[in-house]
Amino acid sequence: MARVLSGIQPSGDLHLGNYLGAIRNWARIQHTADAFHPVVDLHAVTVPQEPGELGRATLRMSQMLMAAGLDPDVCTIFVQSHVREHTECAWLLECTVSFGELSRMTQFKDKSGRQQFISAGLFTYPALQAADILLYDADEVPVGADQRQHIELTRDIAERFNSRYGETFRLPAAVVPAAGARVMDLQTPTDKMSKSLDSPRGTVDILDDPSAIARKIRSAVTDSEADVRYDVEAKPGVSNLLSILGAATGRTPEEAAGDYTMYGPLKADTAEAVVELLRPVRARFAELEADPAETSRLLRIGAGKARAIAAATLERARSNIGLLAP
Ligand code: TYM
Repeated sequence: MARVLSGIQPSGDLHLGNYLGAIRNWARIQHTADAFHPVVDLHAVTVPQEPGELGRATLRMSQMLMAAGLDPDVCTIFVQSHVREHTECAWLLECTVSFGELSRMTQFKDKSGRQQFISAGLFTYPALQAADILLYDADEVPVGADQRQHIELTRDIAERFNSRYGETFRLPAAVVPAAGARVMDLQTPTDKMSKSLDSPRGTVDILDDPSAIARKIRSAVTDSEADVRYDVEAKPGVSNLLSILGAATGRTPEEAAGDYTMYGPLKADTAEAVVELLRPVRARFAELEADPAETSRLLRIGAGKARAIAAATLERARSNIGLLAP
C-alpha cells in the first residue's frame, strides 16, 4: 500500500481552492493508501500569530478536514507540533539545503513580499515541509499545483542526504489533480484563491452559506466578450469558472464549456454545483464543532500513530549521520 502524506496550515478556514486542489483528493485516496495528514501549526508560526488563536484554529482546521471527508478511523490526522520529531528532522534538513535553493522558492518570494518582519523560519519553511514528508517515507504527496516546487525541493534534499550519509529517506512524488489544481480568486482571476481575510469576495469558504456562495460566484469577474471558452491567458475569469464547474461535476473545463454560450447560465450552474458540493461538508462540520473534546481525543490517537513512524525514521537519520547515541 502506498504511503501518502499531505498537510495544511491552520491559517483561516478551508476554501474552495484547498478543497478542490487537495482535501477532496485526500478523502478519496485514504481508502486505497496509508495516509497521513498533519495540520501544520509550526508552519503557521513563520508569520506572527495572535496568542491563543492558533490552538483554536488548529482544532477548527482538524474538524474541517474531518467534515470534508477525512475519516480518522481510516487515515491518520494529527497536529504537527504534537510530534516533536518534525522540528528535529527539519534542522538536519536545513543543513542539507542551500541558501540558493531556498531563495528560489516562489512561495517565499510571494509571502516575504507581504511581510514587514521576514522571519528566518519563513525562509527555511521548505526544510520543515521536507521533514513532514520524509519522516513518513511518503511515496506520494497529493497537493495543489502551487506546492509542486516544494515537493521537488524535498526530493533534492532527500537525494543529497542519501548520497552524503547513505540510504535514509524515500523519494516522494507530487500528485496534482487533473481538475482543480489551481483555483483562482473570483475577483482577481490571475491570482490563486487564498484565505478569505485577504480577499473575502474572491474566496469561497467551505463553510459559507448557500446564498453567500451564490453571491460570490454571480459577481465573479469575467470579461467584456460574450463567448464561453476555456482560455486561461485570454479569459482568466471565465476559465476559472469552467475549471470550478468541471472539477465540481467531474468534467474537464473544455467539456463544461461546450454547454454554454452565455456567462449568466454558466455562473448560475457553477454556483449551484458548488453549493451542492459543499452542503454535506457544512452539515458535518456543525456536528463536529459541537464536540471539541472528541476531536482532541482523535488527534491524540493520530499523534501517537504518527510519532511511532517519525521516531523510527529520525533515529535512522541520526544514526546514518553518525550523531553519538545518548
Ligand atoms: P496550504 O495550507 O497553503 O494549502 C493546503 C493545500 O491546498 C492547496 N491549495 C490550492 N489548490 C488549488 N487552488 C488553490 N487556490 C489552492 N490554494 C491552496 C495547496 O496546494 C495544498 O495542497 N506548505 C503547504 C503545507 C504543508 C505541506 C506539508 C503540504 C506543510 N507540510 C507536507 C504537503 C506536504 C501549504 O502551505 O499548503
